[in-house]
Amino acid sequence: MRWLEGSPERYDAGMRLLTFGRIAKLHAAVAEAAVAAPDDRVLEIGCGTGAVTALLQGRGAHVTAIDQSPEMLEQAQRRPSGKSAAPVEWLEQTAAEIDRLPTAAYDSVVLCLCLSDMSSSERAFVLRESALRLAAGGRLVVADEVRAPRGWRRATQRLWRIPQACLGWLLVGSLSRPLPDLAGEIRNAGMHVTRARAWMLGSLQLVVAERRP
Ligand SMILES: C[S@@+](CC[C@H](N)C(=O)[O-])C[C@H]1O[C@@H](n2cnc3c(N)ncnc32)[C@H](O)[C@@H]1O
Repeated sequence: MRWLEGSPERYDAGMRLLTFGRIAKLHAAVAEAAVAAPDDRVLEIGCGTGAVTALLQGRGAHVTAIDQSPEMLEQAQRRPSGKSAAPVEWLEQTAAEIDRLPTAAYDSVVLCLCLSDMSSSERAFVLRESALRLAAGGRLVVADEVRAPRGWRRATQRLWRIPQACLGWLLVGSLSRPLPDLAGEIRNAGMHVTRARAWMLGSLQLVVAERRP
């Protein structure tokens, strides 16, 4: 989704279009998985325009939201939040800098459509460091574009990616990169996968994981 990130004001509408509206369901499922109880502390990495942040706030969470893009953060901060919502701590920083944040301090760490923007070594580092930021019993909640399972779903995904890639290339000259094995990468970071769910013929996936004892 990197190509839409260059224009934050068009990002939300673009994502709705590209996902046939499924993005709202994905965001709602992410927020539901991330907040087990009001006052949960949530670290959200790559908050973008703040759609998930607002849902987390709406569930009563105390959110620390980070993003490397000042334009995205600015857009996120303009999003209205409920009167009783706890204020968000906004941090302009890269995911690779989360090792500066306190360890064992969050009930969940959320990465929604952000990991696929990173190199494989950065993903491995960020997943390992995310696990360290979780308090006992905490959850890692990751949602992203993934390579669809083999067979007709993979073939359909390839067909769908042709117009998507053309549009992306025309707009900003870059392409998104679906992850080959999201659950596997999370396991390699020492986490135990407890739940996985897919949308859009398996091309959008939500994975929930806990830290191994
Ligand atoms: C596709 S957007 C998703 C935004 C939001 N999470 C959502 O689901 O609508 C990805 C966001 O992650 C941010 N991002 C990508 N790589 C990052 C990194 N290495 N460190 C921090 N932010 C990053 C981008 O700036 C962008 O705002």
